[in-house]
Parts: sequence; structure tokens; C-alpha cells
Amino acid sequence: MTPRRFRSFAKINLGLEVVGRLPGGYHELKTIFATLSLHDTIDIAATKAGISVRTDHPSVPGDETNLAHRAAVAMQRLSGRTGGLSIAIHKRIAVGGGLGGGSSNAAAVLRALDSMWGLGLGREGLIEIAKSLGADVPYFLFGGAALGLGRGDDIRPLDLRLDQKVLLVPGDGGVSTAQVFRRFAEDGGPSEARSRIDAFLRKPLTPGRLRNDLERAAIEESPALAGVARRIRRAARVSGAIQAAMSGSGSSFFLLFEDAPSRAAAWRDLREAGIRGVPCGFVSRRSYESRFEIPRQA
Ligand code: C5P
Repeated sequence: MTPRRFRSFAKINLGLEVVGRLPGGYHELKTIFATLSLHDTIDIAATKAGISVRTDHPSVPGDETNLAHRAAVAMQRLSGRTGGLSIAIHKRIAVGGGLGGGSSNAAAVLRALDSMWGLGLGREGLIEIAKSLGADVPYFLFGGAALGLGRGDDIRPLDLRLDQKVLLVPGDGGVSTAQVFRRFAEDGGPSEARSRIDAFLRKPLTPGRLRNDLERAAIEESPALAGVARRIRRAARVSGAIQAAMSGSGSSFFLLFEDAPSRAAAWRDLREAGIRGVPCGFVSRRSYESRFEIPRQA
């Protein structure tokens, strides 16, 4: 069967605040997600039997531990469909970098199979499976700007028009989300600092002053990040960036700009320090839907 091809976009957390602890060891979050134009590509085809997942990234397993594989198994169970699937993932999103790549791939498989099998489940019908796969997966059923509460999996879409230019500094992984949260708890856990996200939601003009509460813990877990963070903040200052912050539990950072020339200035400044930047843009909720499937040439 000819495979169908889908985009699986990356996210950043424009701001991430840890506001408490939840039963079961998870942390209660308040975060603003946004979708980036950077994406992986996923080819899905029906086969006779078995589920096979292949990736072109050496550190992403193709076995049943892959979240995309688990998503496919869950969809088979839910739908009662037998028969096999071949899933090929072309990775461009940095792995383990706080950009939600694995979660995005899993959500893309849920949405794609819902469409390919004509199940008509939609967001409502997929949300519980998404939650069971990981805290970041439900966001990727929505895309665009959204507020994440609870474990980060209680999603409220936001009507924000994000048109800033983004310079992403992808982290090459190596920081485990679980370890960063553990370190955060050891460091004293949630602070009493006033929520900048609340202030932003009252007056969402530009992101600017949002913060990521996990940055300190991520740097303690991976001390090399301290130098990168310093260099990024310097580039932000010299170029007039409106925000520079870490995404998720690291190790990627991003800078936001009002215009392309300031982004180019920061990009050059970072390149001189041997730090790779990837320019990209934001994807609205509407484009997230319309650009999901990549039509095959006739
Ligand atoms: O759900 P996910 O697999 O992405 O989370 C990885 C780990 O990160 C969890 O096992 C948990 O230790 C930690 N975590 C947390 N609070 C959250 C999300 C994740 O403590 N809201």
C-alpha cells in the first residue's frame, strides 16, 4: 500500500511554571505551549501483520518502547483493527531536547490512524489514549498556542497570534525529564514567585517576560548547559531579542524577535561561539490542522 505522509511538529514552552505537586509524584504545571514550523515526517502504510517502526536517528529505538509504536498498539486495541502497520519516522526535531518530538510523533500516529481508518474519534476520542502515553502528548492533538495545566496534559487552546521570529538552539538531549523534575524537587520545589503566565494571559501582547522554572535544575543536571544559557542570553542582549528561554526540561533554548534582522544578528553572534541556531516560525492551530498531511504527488 502507498504510505500516507504526515508532519509531526515540534513545540516550545513559551513559559513553564511549576506550581505544586500532584498525587503520584508528578508536578503540577502551568505552561504555555506553541508549535514551531520545525517538524519530523512520518510515513504510515497498512501491511499484512505486525507493527514496524523505523527511524533514521541512531538513538531513537524502532522497537515497542517507541512512543509512536505504543500509540499504534493503543489505536489497534481501541478500534479492534487487525492487520499491520509500517511506520517510518524521518527525525529532524532534536531528540530528548524539550521540543516534544517523541510526544508529537505519538500524537501524529493517533491522528493519522483516526483519519486512515475513518474512526471519527477526533480530539475528544483520542485524549485519554494521549494522556496515557505521556504528559506532553495531549497538547499535540491541538497544536498552536495553548495553556497546559495539571501534569501539562489539561489543554486549553489560546487565541494568541504569535508572529515573532524564532531562533531555536536545539539541545542534543542528555537531560532526562524525570531527573530534572527530581532535581527541581530536591532544590526545594515550587517557589512562591508570582505567576508571569497569569500576567501574560491578562495582557498577551508579547511573550517577553515568561520564565521556565526548570532551567536551574536542568543546568545542575547538565552543567555544560550553563555556558550555553549564558551565551544565548548575551546574544539576546546584543540583538534586542524579546525573550530567551529554555524549552520544557531542556536542553533546547529559543530566542524570540520582532523582526528578521535582529534574529540574523543573534544567529551570527551564536555562530561565532560555535552554537548552532535554527531559524523557524510559529504554526497556528489552523495551520497545524491544514498542514498535517503532506499530499502525495499524483
Ligand atoms: O509524562 P512523561 O513521560 O513525559 O514524564 C516523564 C517524567 O517527568 C515523569 O515520570 C515524572 O517523573 C516527570 N514529570 C513530572 N511532572 C510533570 C511531567 C513529568 O514530575 N508534570
